[in-house]
Amino acid sequence: MRVAIIGQGYVGLTIALGAASAGHSVVGFDVNDGLVDQLNAGKSHIEGITDKDLGSFIASSSYMASADASVLNGSDVIVIAVPTPLDAQRNPDLSFVHAAADLIEKNVKSPALIVNESTSYPGTLRNEIAVRITGVNHLYASSPERVDPGNSEWGTKNTPRLIGGLTPAAVAKAKEFYGSFCDSIIEVSSPEVAEAAKIFENTFRQVNIALVNEFAQIADALDISGREVLDAAATKPYGFMPFNPGPGVGGHCIPVDPSYLAHVANQVGVPATFIKRANEVNLAMPAYVVKRVVAGADGSIKGKKVVVVGVSYKSNVADTRETPAAAIIDLLREQGVTVTWHDDLVGSWRGETSSSLAGADIALIVTKHDGVDLAAIKACGYVFDCTGTIAGVDGI
Ligand SMILES: NC(=O)c1ccc[n+]([C@@H]2O[C@H](COP(=O)([O-])OP(=O)(O)OC[C@H]3O[C@@H](n4cnc5c(N)ncnc54)[C@H](O)[C@@H]3O)[C@@H](O)[C@H]2O)c1
Repeated sequence: MRVAIIGQGYVGLTIALGAASAGHSVVGFDVNDGLVDQLNAGKSHIEGITDKDLGSFIASSSYMASADASVLNGSDVIVIAVPTPLDAQRNPDLSFVHAAADLIEKNVKSPALIVNESTSYPGTLRNEIAVRITGVNHLYASSPERVDPGNSEWGTKNTPRLIGGLTPAAVAKAKEFYGSFCDSIIEVSSPEVAEAAKIFENTFRQVNIALVNEFAQIADALDISGREVLDAAATKPYGFMPFNPGPGVGGHCIPVDPSYLAHVANQVGVPATFIKRANEVNLAMPAYVVKRVVAGADGSIKGKKVVVVGVSYKSNVADTRETPAAAIIDLLREQGVTVTWHDDLVGSWRGETSSSLAGADIALIVTKHDGVDLAAIKACGYVFDCTGTIAGVDGI
């Protein structure tokens, strides 16, 4: 099939190469010219896709990137994989999805299967995409992306894929396409079910992470080890699923997607109080971490040098979107502390560059990448670990 993927970020590039590996002829369209040039030069910008893999798909002409929207015309399948962030009021911002639909409306003159993989609330495919595209009788399906960047066990091939279409013909075509490079396809009765399943999965994580974050605070106040309690609870072979406490949630999904569900819930008169409370707890974790660091460093950190270790939102990825490290650093600086950060994967961020671990009075570990220098961390006077992976130091 001729396949076009709109958006060549984490999701779009991953799907593009998944489809290329199945023998489809794939063009990755992106509005970012610099990214398009970089991809065509064989340089991958995401973990999990090596330059070597990208280069081999380019060399075999099964993949190319383009910033020219005319490449969309003549595609058998067009996949939308664009950002779905929150606006300044933390409401869904569908402007990228609308822009993608408008590009299709303007450029695509022959019928195609149009699939939305971008995460959004139920009704997006039907009411925000399909209605904007007139004049051509396209097929429409929703197949929300579940990729977990950096996860070497679960990828595009073996993560079961949900598909819901506006018509049986759309479902059949989507199954044919995704079935060519995904092991397991799960058909659901409508695009709305697929869309809602995706945001409920992430809401489930958000709420459980908030619960365990609240529990970590309760356990500390009771002077018992929250992590030991969680390990003990996890020995129950049924009815319990362990989640880890941490400094807050980051990335493009967990802090964002539940607010898409809350938005539509509010529209239909259901208050979605779990989501609201979970957001409050998770967003308050950076302040709790700073409070614990102050207490652990004998009640005052003024004038001290703090190095924040790991500023991406999770280990072994360079993604800093919505990372709790940002709030932690800002709160520390408000207290008159000299703060540097160390993250070899991120390198530069917010106009600053990664510093060495040497010379700090306090090391505050937000995210621990493989290979970070533990001896250098332990050489700092006081260590506070948000990851629960360094024995014998303070933390959550
Ligand atoms: N990153 C993840 O782990 C993940 C996992 C599952 C689902 N998702 C969802 O997938 C969607 C995409 O996320 P992502 O992480 O790939 O985002 P991203 O920011 O990594 O990439 C999005 C890309 O889309 C491009 N873009 C924006 N507007 C465009 C347009 N009109 N036409 C063409 N390209 C355009 C941007 O330049 C960017 O390169 C979001 O809805 C997200 O919630 C992300």
